[in-house]
Amino acid sequence: MSRPFYITTAIDYANGAPHLGHAYEKVLADVLARHHRMLGDDVYFLTGLDEHGQKVQQTAQKRQIEPQVLVDEVAAVFQQMLGLLNISNDDYIRTTEPRHKVVVQAFLQKLFDKGLIFKATKSGWYSVRQEQFLSDKDRDAEGNWPSIYGEVTQTTEENYYFKLSQFQPWLIEHLKDNPDFINPAHRRKQVLEFLKEPMNDLCISRPKARLTWGIELPFDREFVTYVWFDALTNYYSAVVDKGRWPADMHVIGKDILSPPHAVYWPCMLKALDIAPPKQLLVHGWWTLNGSKASKSDGNATDSLSFAQKFGTDAFRYYLCREMVVGEDADFSSPNFAQRYKADLGHNLGNLVNRLLNMVGRNYAGTVPAPGADEELEQNLRKLWTETERKFFAHFAEAQISHALEALWVFVSAMNAYIEARAPWKLAKSAETADRARLDSCLAHVAEGLRLTATVLTPVMPKTCEQLLINIGLPVATSFASVHAWSTVCTGAKVAEKCILFPPLEEPEAPAKA
Ligand code: MSP
Repeated sequence: MSRPFYITTAIDYANGAPHLGHAYEKVLADVLARHHRMLGDDVYFLTGLDEHGQKVQQTAQKRQIEPQVLVDEVAAVFQQMLGLLNISNDDYIRTTEPRHKVVVQAFLQKLFDKGLIFKATKSGWYSVRQEQFLSDKDRDAEGNWPSIYGEVTQTTEENYYFKLSQFQPWLIEHLKDNPDFINPAHRRKQVLEFLKEPMNDLCISRPKARLTWGIELPFDREFVTYVWFDALTNYYSAVVDKGRWPADMHVIGKDILSPPHAVYWPCMLKALDIAPPKQLLVHGWWTLNGSKASKSDGNATDSLSFAQKFGTDAFRYYLCREMVVGEDADFSSPNFAQRYKADLGHNLGNLVNRLLNMVGRNYAGTVPAPGADEELEQNLRKLWTETERKFFAHFAEAQISHALEALWVFVSAMNAYIEARAPWKLAKSAETADRARLDSCLAHVAEGLRLTATVLTPVMPKTCEQLLINIGLPVATSFASVHAWSTVCTGAKVAEKCILFPPLEEPEAPAKA
């Protein structure tokens, strides 16, 4: 029986254009989903759009259109991005869908019936722009409200609150008992640190007088539920009838770890007697040429054009190779060009063509059976055993950049192996022993490329498909064949040549500066 693997991304806010941060998270989750499929797991991959809230309402008002019209437009643009990036999601949830609303309302009603939601009046300083009450801790060193809060006014408001604080002791225990709940470990420590302070109860509503674009509270139609209660529930509402819960992995950025995903979500579920998700995989933040990539910055959107210019797979490779999961990374055009040229074009692409060339010239396009088995061959095979072990171990920790790093050590070693074997010299020799070495050289490179392309398929699906077809093999759908060095390439008919990574001019820098 295959193991279930339910993986999700954060659902993006429908109040702007897709950008690099959104793209990266989808690619990361997609690579993990594809990897698990090839491991033989029963994968369900969810992504979607967060469509309610004040900002959507305001933008729609400004444009004099219905909010639903606006989010329909935005959803189409986000879904186009998924197509461009070749994302293999099984489902796409939008928080304005009826299937989502009914679950949110059922959750709210259940918590209300259990006495875990109460009404209270709060007065204080309120930021209209951030839609939140502020405390003196939010003032700057001079005692003023920082500009991110926009206009700040004294407000009194009645709202509904979820008794979050009641679950704090449980949550601390849960984090302590489940060291894998937050990956990477340093993020878990931050959350435990945050939990040393007593938590407040969570305001979960907005009066309709101020916000209409939301899901109504089932027990008080004068209010809509606000932001996190609505958004987080998507992970559950999408699979309520599919028997997929609990999620195995929520892939999210560091900004929405604590408190939303690490605190609100597990406590909401606990209050509802539903199991928490198994893991939060927390990635870092992308900067663009050293500055923050955000939706207000057109550059972040421009960076997506790299997928069009260099190809989707090169873009996916770059994102996966460049960001150590959990840490921040910088996207820069010279760095992209360098990786494209060196890692992909030179190290991998040329290697494939060297093989096709030599097999064409010396064996009429048919991969020979291995002949001589000397130290060079044995070392290459040993290195694969080591590479395979490291590659899967890193993937098991979702450390894709490290897995790719290990794989590229092997790709470089194949290039070094060719240099050492010098097949162009062997081909000129009349010695039988040299012919046997030539046989082995081409058979080993073909097998090494087969193994490489198979494990690399989740990161670069189309490219690896092309690579395998060009060396006369079927596309890879499982990892079953990579744990042992084989001779399945023997007799394969290779193509004359294949250009996996066409040389391109240097791209324009994504920065406008
Ligand atoms: N709608 C909420 C999430 C609700 S999940 C129940 C939200 N949306 S968002 O559009 O602002 O962000 C979506 C995801 O993109 C988040 O995980 C966020 O961390 C990620 N990124 C946004 N900008 C980013 C970078 N510059 N770099 C990497 N990822 C970042 O938050």
